[in-house]
Amino acid sequence: MTDARWVAGLEEQARARLSPPLFEYVAQGARDGRTAARAVSAWRDVVLHPHVLCDVTEVDTSVELLGRRHRTPVGVAPSTLQRAVHPDGELAMARAVAASDGVLVVSSNAGTPFAEIGATGVAWWVQCYLPADRSLAVPLLRRAVDAGASAVVLTADTPVVGTKYPGSPGADVIWDVVDPALLRVNFDPGYDTAPGSDKARDLGARDVDRLATLTGLPVVVKGVLRPDDAARVVDAGAAAVWVSNHGGRQLDRTPTTAAVLPAVRAAVADRAQVYVDGGVRDGLDVVTALALGADAVFLGRLPLYALVDGEPGVRRMLAELEAQTTESMRLAGARRVRDTRDLVGL
Ligand SMILES: Cc1cc2nc3c(=O)[nH]c(=O)nc-3n(C[C@H](O)[C@H](O)[C@H](O)COP(=O)(O)O)c2cc1C
Repeated sequence: MTDARWVAGLEEQARARLSPPLFEYVAQGARDGRTAARAVSAWRDVVLHPHVLCDVTEVDTSVELLGRRHRTPVGVAPSTLQRAVHPDGELAMARAVAASDGVLVVSSNAGTPFAEIGATGVAWWVQCYLPADRSLAVPLLRRAVDAGASAVVLTADTPVVGTKYPGSPGADVIWDVVDPALLRVNFDPGYDTAPGSDKARDLGARDVDRLATLTGLPVVVKGVLRPDDAARVVDAGAAAVWVSNHGGRQLDRTPTTAAVLPAVRAAVADRAQVYVDGGVRDGLDVVTALALGADAVFLGRLPLYALVDGEPGVRRMLAELEAQTTESMRLAGARRVRDTRDLVGL
C-alpha cells in the first residue's frame, strides 16, 4: 500500500507553511495560468490498457540515462529558491535524490555552491540559461564540471522571463522580499550588471555544439514542445530532448506536455533520449509518461512542496513515488519500463 493521500496533500501543506509570496511564486503559472492549470489533468485523462497473464513478481523501474543506470526513472527538475523553501535547500534535495538513486538537475540560479552539491555524491546535471555574451557562462559551467556535473541542460524556452501576476493587487512579490544571498551563488560577482548578461535571444543549433565542446558533457535541450524542433535539437547534437513548457511559467496557452510527448518521441525515435516534466504529481502519472514515450520523468513543484519538511520530506515523497510507480507497473502488467510503451493508444 502506498500513501497516496500524503503525497496529494503536499501542495496544501506548502500553502499553509510557506510565506504567501513564496508559495505563490512556486505554484503560479505565467499570465492567465491556462497552461499550468491543464498540466496535471492531462496525465490523468490518458487511458491505459493493462496486460494480464504477465509475471509481475519482480518489477524493474530502472532506466539508463546518458550512460548511467538509475533505479528510478523519476528525477528532480531544476528550480530556484530551494533555500528559501528550506534552509538546507539544494543539499536536502541532493541527499534525498541520492537516496532514491535518481538524477538531480541543479538550477544555475541555485543558492548552494556546486562543489557542496557534488560532495553529497548525488548524480547531477547542471541547468543553464545562456547569456547574450556566451563567454560570461564559462566560469559557472567550469565550476559545474569541476564539481562533477555529468550533463548540461540548456533551457531553451526562456529568451525572456514570462510575465507572472501577483496573487492580489498590491501583494508582495517574492523578488521584493527574498534574501538575495539565497540565490545565484555560482555566478561570478558582478555577473548581473555585466554587459551581455541578459538571456540570449538568439539561441541556435550552434549553442548545443558549443556547450558540448566547452564542457565535454552530453547536452540536453529543455523546453521542446514540437516534433520538428525535437528533430532539429537532435540534429544539432543533443543527447536528449526534454519536453517541457516550464511548468506553464513561460508562454501561456501552450499544449500540455502529455499531449505532445508521443509526437516528440516519434520524431526522435531512438536517435536520442526523451525526458518530460509538467504536472507530474504521482507514480501513476510517471507510468503514464513512460507509456507515452518518456525515458525519464522530472518533477518541478512536487519536490519543492516536499522540501518544506527538508531532506526527510523529499526522501519520503520520492520513496512514495517509487512505490506508486512499482504498484502501477504491476497493475498494468509491465515488468520493465519498456513494457509500458504499449499501454496507450489501442
Ligand atoms: C519555483 C520554480 C522555479 C523554477 N526554476 C527553473 C530554473 O531555474 N530553470 C529551469 O530550467 N526551469 C525552472 N523551473 C521549471 C522546472 O524545471 C520544470 O520545468 C517545471 O516546474 C515542471 O512542472 P511541474 O512544476 O508541474 O512539475 C522552475 C519551476 C518552478 C516551479
